[in-house]
Amino acid sequence: MIRARVIATGSYVPEKVLTNFDIEKMVDTSDEWIIERTGINQRRIARDDQAASDLAYEASKSALEYAGLKPKDLDLIIVATVTGDMPLPATACILQHRLGAKKAAAFDVNAACSGFIYGLSIGDKFIRSGSHKRVLVVGTEILSKFTDWADRTTCVLFGDGAGAVILERTEEDRGIIETRIHSDGSMWDLLHTPGGGSKNPPSSETIRKRYHYIKMKGNETFKVAVRMLEDLVIATLKHNKLEPSKLSLLIPHQANRRIIQATAKRLNLPMEKVVMNLDRYGNTSAASIPIALDEAFRAGRIKQDDYILLEAFGGGLTWGSALIKW
Ligand code: ACO
Repeated sequence: MIRARVIATGSYVPEKVLTNFDIEKMVDTSDEWIIERTGINQRRIARDDQAASDLAYEASKSALEYAGLKPKDLDLIIVATVTGDMPLPATACILQHRLGAKKAAAFDVNAACSGFIYGLSIGDKFIRSGSHKRVLVVGTEILSKFTDWADRTTCVLFGDGAGAVILERTEEDRGIIETRIHSDGSMWDLLHTPGGGSKNPPSSETIRKRYHYIKMKGNETFKVAVRMLEDLVIATLKHNKLEPSKLSLLIPHQANRRIIQATAKRLNLPMEKVVMNLDRYGNTSAASIPIALDEAFRAGRIKQDDYILLEAFGGGLTWGSALIKW
């Protein structure tokens, strides 16, 4: 049986740190409120001259180096992002050029915070079909450039970064066991950026109305996220006849500590088996899972044959999971 195996991981976060205390000086909030309601202490902010493809390039280079591969060894590049370099072309094509991955087809995926799981799912299917052998899947975001720094309900949440994995065809009994992806567009307006697209093309009017910034109805999103993620992780494990106790690690999207704790509780997993880095990076949307995966892997928290569950929830609304036997 053909499967896709993660053979390497990589990540990159910008150097600049923005703490809760820094944000206290910008809007009416407090370090205490942010930590209690989200679990976030600080986040990283990209330089003005950095675009999403620059962060993706660093993460991809790190994964390629780990794998001992050259960019020409890749035959597909999938980039998950909602903060791409520009509306046209795909950030994946800019990354392909930077890397010099001449043989790879490249395209973007837009599924907000679930983007990496969507990308992984697509890459897995390309490999299982036999058409492609090596796929680079990247999540990269510069949310800070689309954050309304005068809106305390969103500006405390987001951060910048990128993470990457390389998938390779294997016939061993390990790799990606199953991915699940879901959407419910009826709630698209819970989390959206109204301006800059064909509905509200950029104009002085859309700028004045601050339409180019991310808007989120946080509390409503929170409630749906908790419910959907609990159902999702249970369904994923049940379908694969895997007891939660057999999981070595849960690597959730890093949106909110309380959402992560609720999912872990539903699985009866001790928090030592849950990877959390949102205290340091905030919510980096599509980048959060591959950054957390890279950190966990390089810290020696993942061993061969371990069962790892990834899960995410985000704008769209979208949500998804990936069960991996490492
Ligand atoms: N500082 C201080 N007070 C604040 C702040 C802040 N930064 N932000 C909001 N408040 C206030 C509100 O105004 C409100 O005050 P009120 O009661 O007087 O009206 C009060 O705090 C409570 O606000 P809620 O929005 O109900 O707070 P909640 O506990 O829901 O926390 C949060 C907000 C952190 C945004 C949470 O709802 C959340 O994490 N939501 C889910 C986010 C998510 O998962 N998004 C999907 C992924 S993101 C993506 O796809 C890009």
